[in-house]
Amino acid sequence: MALAIRTHEQSLSPEQESLREEALRGFAASPKTMSPKFFYDHRGSHLFELICQQPEYYPTRTEETILRLAARDIAELAGRNASLVELGSGASRKIRLLLEALRPARYLGIDISREFLHSSTRRLAADYRWLDVHALCADFSQPLKLPAEALGQRPLAFFPGSSIGNFDPDEARAFLRNLHQALPAGSGLLIGVDLVKDRQVLERAYNDAAGVTALFNLNLLERIRNELHSDIDPRRFQHRAFYNEAESRIEMHLVSRQAQRVRIEDRVFDFAAGETLHTENSYKYTPSGFRDLAGACGFASVAMWRDPAQLFNVHFLRR
Ligand code: AVJ
Repeated sequence: MALAIRTHEQSLSPEQESLREEALRGFAASPKTMSPKFFYDHRGSHLFELICQQPEYYPTRTEETILRLAARDIAELAGRNASLVELGSGASRKIRLLLEALRPARYLGIDISREFLHSSTRRLAADYRWLDVHALCADFSQPLKLPAEALGQRPLAFFPGSSIGNFDPDEARAFLRNLHQALPAGSGLLIGVDLVKDRQVLERAYNDAAGVTALFNLNLLERIRNELHSDIDPRRFQHRAFYNEAESRIEMHLVSRQAQRVRIEDRVFDFAAGETLHTENSYKYTPSGFRDLAGACGFASVAMWRDPAQLFNVHFLRR
């Protein structure tokens, strides 16, 4: 009965990284910035799931379609007795698709959010009784140490959703080099990457008509107001998302609707009317651009899939 999961902890608890320090640092910076990591409290994770269901937000369902079509090829490339390692074990539909196609001996889920991680891995253990399930609570933007007993001989690491787009290219290289260090030679890396495309399609995806992305962005301010000593009023800010073509990235900002002073803990911060808090970058790549970036970090391209509309890209790389 495989209902039990094996839990592992990275020495430094990622939850110690506090919203308070990030807000005090980010509001004092110029321009003002916050890391998108802090979007994902309970409400933020729920809003993100809703974003994935919006008709304008193509990445989630497009990646799912690609994975469904490529599942048999992926299983063949991964080989028998592979272990599956999921980085940021959020969207459970995609991992189920792979588990069923690969039938791996082991699964290791890695996530920064401990409660979320433990409940989702427990659900996998209940649904797939044949699977040896491990959970590692860790921040994978930091150097990783993967537990050997959860890795097996030839792991396949899975990093879906174009989460790599939250890193700027330097950070993406640092992340891939980290991963290269943590994985044994011969490992696979299956990674979803959003493609460079028409500005209109991109900007619609981050400005859905139902306003869910706006709520997701503004939730960062709700968190500051609820979790810190702060008088910040989210109604005095407006969601803005646009494509920065020169940098190949969507930028999300919160725009101050008026000149205002905001208190956080024992500090005050002034916003000019129209001044923004930069909350997220989401980088877009061409297939060859991403292949070159990964190649420079020791990952060779083995296979690559795209949807017919060329919205999204899944790469199979070998370490
Ligand atoms: C989870 C980082 C891939 O960049 O598309 C969705 C987050 N932000 N809508 C993305 C997000 C606004 C998403 N990633």
